[in-house]
Amino acid sequence: MNRAKITGTGMYIPEKVVTNFDLEKLMDTSDAWIRERAGIVERRFVESEIGAAGLAYEAAKKALENAQVEPKDIDLIIFATLSPEYQFPGSGVLLQEKLGLQGIPALDIRNQCTGFIYGLSVADQYIKTGMYKCIMVAGAEVHSTGLDMSTRGRDLAVLFGDGAGVAIVESSDDSDCGILSSHLHADGRFAKELYIENPGCLHIPRYTDEMFEDGSIYPYMNGRQVFKHAVVRFCEAIEECLKANNVSPDEVKLVIPHQANQRITEAVAQRFGYTMDRVFSNIHKYGNTTAASIPIALHEALMEGIINEGDYIVLVAFGSGFTWGSILLRW
Ligand SMILES: CC(C)(COP(=O)(O)OP(=O)(O)OC[C@H]1O[C@@H](n2cnc3c(N)ncnc32)[C@H](O)[C@@H]1OP(=O)(O)O)[C@@H](O)C(=O)NCCC(=O)NCCS
Repeated sequence: MNRAKITGTGMYIPEKVVTNFDLEKLMDTSDAWIRERAGIVERRFVESEIGAAGLAYEAAKKALENAQVEPKDIDLIIFATLSPEYQFPGSGVLLQEKLGLQGIPALDIRNQCTGFIYGLSVADQYIKTGMYKCIMVAGAEVHSTGLDMSTRGRDLAVLFGDGAGVAIVESSDDSDCGILSSHLHADGRFAKELYIENPGCLHIPRYTDEMFEDGSIYPYMNGRQVFKHAVVRFCEAIEECLKANNVSPDEVKLVIPHQANQRITEAVAQRFGYTMDRVFSNIHKYGNTTAASIPIALHEALMEGIINEGDYIVLVAFGSGFTWGSILLRW
C-alpha cells in the first residue's frame, strides 16, 4: 500500500501586524491580560478583500515550489476553513480557479480548529486507495472581519488572527515514512460551546435586524468549558496515535499542536513531561488561526530545521464541534 507523504509546505500571513496594544484602543482589555491568559502578543489581520482562498493561494505557491510540484500535477484540493468567502460555494473552488486547475475536484472541510487534521486524514485515505497521487491540503482563515471588536466581544476577539498554510501530500512507495495513522473524533453535544449562530440557515426568517444587534452574528465561546475539554482531548489524541504505532512519548521529536492557547499547549507538554522545545509554539506571533495554525506551524518548524529525516512528529488539534484528532508522521 502506498504511503501519503508531505513533500512541501507553504504559509502566508497578511502584512498588517495588530498588537495587544492596538486592541487596547478598541476595547477594555490589556496586553498583560492577553499575554497571561493566552500567550498572544500580536496577530495579523487582512487589509484588503483577499479572502481565505486568496491567502491560501499565496501559501500554495510556496508549497508547490518547496515540493517541486507543478500545479497541473495536483489531483485534488482539500480546503479547511470556517471563514469561507461565501456561504456557498466553499473556498476550495476559488483556490482551484486561482491555480488554473479547472476540472479537478475541490473538497471543503468544515471542522474548524481540527480542519487541517481532518483534511490530511482524507488525503491519506485517497492516496492509500490509489485514487489520487498528489493532493493539496489547505487551511486558511480570515477571522478579523468577523470579530466583535468592542468590549462585548473581547473574550474572543483578542484570540484570533488571519493566515494560511498549505501542504502538498504525495503518494510514496517508501513504507517507513509519511502519515503513519490518523485519528478523528467529534462530540456534537458541545456544538454550541463554540459557534456562530447567525446568519445560519436554521431560523425563519433567516435574517433579522436583531441578529446584528444582539451580537449573534459573532462567534460565541464558553472559554472555560473549551479550555477544560481541550487539555483532556489533546492528551488523549496524542496518546492514541502513539499507541496505534507502538511509539513511546520519548521517541517523538516534535508535537505540533493546534495553536489555541499557550496555556493549553503548556498543560499538554507538562502531561507528557516534554520541555517546551519539543512542543511547537508560534501563537505569540499569530494568535489562533484555526484551520491554518497546524500547517503554518509545520512550515515554520521545517524552515527552522527542527524536523529531520526519520523524526516522529505528532500533529494534534481540538476545536469547535467539539472535534479533535491526531496524526503521527514519520518524516
Ligand atoms: C478565553 C480564555 C483565555 C479566558 O481565560 P479565563 O481565565 O477562563 O478567563 P475568564 O473567562 O474566567 O474571565 C476572567 C475575567 O476576564 C475578563 N475578560 C475576558 N476577556 C477579556 C479580555 N480580552 N481582556 C480583559 N479581560 C477579559 C472576563 O470578563 C472576566 O472578568 P470577571 O472576572 O470580572 O467576570 C480561556 O478560557 C481560554 O483560553 N479558553 C479556551 C480558548 C480556546 O482555546 N479557544 C479556541 C479553541 S480551538
